[in-house]
Amino acid sequence: MTSDNGAAIETEGLEFSYVDGTKALANVSLRIPAGKKVAFLGPNGAGKTTLFLHFNGLVKPDRGKVYVAGREVRYDRASLLEVRKKVGIVFQDPDTQLFSSSVRQEISFGPLNLGLSREVTEQRVRQAMEDTGILDLQDKPTHFLSYGQKKRVAIADILAMQPQALVCDEPTAWLDVKHSRQIMEILDRCNARGVTVIISTHDVDMAYAWSDYIFVMKDGQVISEGVPLEIFADQQVLQEAELAEPLLFELSRELAGKGCLKEGGPAKSIEELIGRIKG
Ligand SMILES: Nc1ncnc2c1ncn2[C@@H]1O[C@H](COP(=O)(O)OP(=O)(O)OP(=O)(O)O)[C@@H](O)[C@H]1O
Ligand SMILES: [Mg+2]
Repeated sequence: MTSDNGAAIETEGLEFSYVDGTKALANVSLRIPAGKKVAFLGPNGAGKTTLFLHFNGLVKPDRGKVYVAGREVRYDRASLLEVRKKVGIVFQDPDTQLFSSSVRQEISFGPLNLGLSREVTEQRVRQAMEDTGILDLQDKPTHFLSYGQKKRVAIADILAMQPQALVCDEPTAWLDVKHSRQIMEILDRCNARGVTVIISTHDVDMAYAWSDYIFVMKDGQVISEGVPLEIFADQQVLQEAELAEPLLFELSRELAGKGCLKEGGPAKSIEELIGRIKG
């Protein structure tokens, strides 16, 4: 069965409980538009990671359906291989993802597993290492890398599969400001090439400035969705999902309220805000 092709990923009535009985997803129906930068927000335990695991069939729902590029996900081996070519997931903790000895071997594993030739694999691996700025690390054993370096290798790992959708679970967690920015730049470059980028994050400032579209989760459900301006203007949703207001959003509102800001509306960057302060 196929569905709307303008969507990278769709879900329909997803329900999922873990073996210990924890209900992690309750009736999740959503549509992620292709080619966009999409963020999932929500408190710890909201179900973000569990939902992501459904996006490429790593977890099978108890009820409901997942569609990737308009095609319903099936759970036989051949179908799952197809889905995993289209949707790549970068786990929050790179140590759960990396297992080969050297960086180059690690990144080669995915394309070789897809049945690609040595030559094509080598091209893809080089491109992925270039895109993530880790060419100088290629011969290093992955277990000697710093956390931030492992994170980039984990992304390169998935980029080498050339997915249509790149799903990153908390890509900037535990990273310093400089390395967080580097990771988001990598994701932006992928998106500029047409890849749908989907992240989860607890960083509302980043989500506000970066996303084209936001989903807010709580207790295994999507409680709100929309463009960042809509989401962060909705005090009820912020309260329900225990989300803080982004600093730029709050500052813009306060300054506009005091008549100190040229033109209305919240600023999207600090440069924009400074440029709009009167005087
Ligand atoms: N392997 C597991 N076994 C049992 N329960 C689990 C398991 N993994 C997650 N859960 C439970 O499922 C629910 C959703 O967890 P999930 O990890 O998807 O949330 P999350 O939104 O990603 O949270 P966080 O922001 O902390 O990463 C939580 O109640 C969690 O305790
Ligand atoms: Mg999580």
